[in-house]
Amino acid sequence: MDPRRSRLLLALADGVLAGWLNIQRGLSPLVAHWGTVNSLQTHTAFQGQGVGTTLMTEARRVAREEMGLEQLHLALRGGTGLERFYGRLGWRVVGSWPGALRVAPGDDRDEILMILTPL
Ligand SMILES: CC(C)(COP(=O)(O)OP(=O)(O)OC[C@H]1O[C@@H](n2cnc3c(N)ncnc32)[C@H](O)[C@@H]1OP(=O)(O)O)[C@@H](O)C(=O)NCCC(=O)NCCS
Repeated sequence: MDPRRSRLLLALADGVLAGWLNIQRGLSPLVAHWGTVNSLQTHTAFQGQGVGTTLMTEARRVAREEMGLEQLHLALRGGTGLERFYGRLGWRVVGSWPGALRVAPGDDRDEILMILTPL
C-alpha cells in the first residue's frame, strides 16, 4: 500500500462503486520510471457511460503528477478488441507474447503489450 509504489483508483457514482483500476511501479531504480495499469474494470451496470475512460484519464494524471512516472504499460487479452479502446486514449501496441493466455483448452490468445508515453 506504499503510495509511491501502488495506487488504487475508484470510480464512484452516487456512492456506488462503478469501476476501479490499479497502478503499480517497481521500486528498483532500474524500472522505477514506469508503472503498470492492472485490473481496469467497470461494473456492468455502468459500462458505456465513460467510467473506463475517466479512470484511464485520471490514471495518467496520477502517474505523471503524483507518482512522477514517465511511462505506463499494460497487457491485455488478444481477440477482445480492447486495443481500440486504449488506442483512443493515446496508447500504442509495442508487441505481444504469442499464445501466452490459455483462456480454455484449444483457445490460446496472444497477450498484447501496450504503452502510454509521454504521460
Ligand atoms: C473495457 C471497460 C473497462 C470499458 O469501460 P467503460 O466504462 O464501458 O468505458 P467507457 O464508457 O469509457 O468507453 C466505452 C467505449 O469503449 C468501447 N469498448 C469497450 N470495450 C471494448 C472492447 N472490448 N473493444 C473495443 N472497444 C471497447 C465501447 O465500445 C465504447 O465505445 P463508444 O464510446 O464508441 O461507444 C469495460 O468494458 C470492462 O470493465 N470490461 C471488462 C474488463 C476488461 O476487459 N478490462 C480491461 C482489461 S485490459
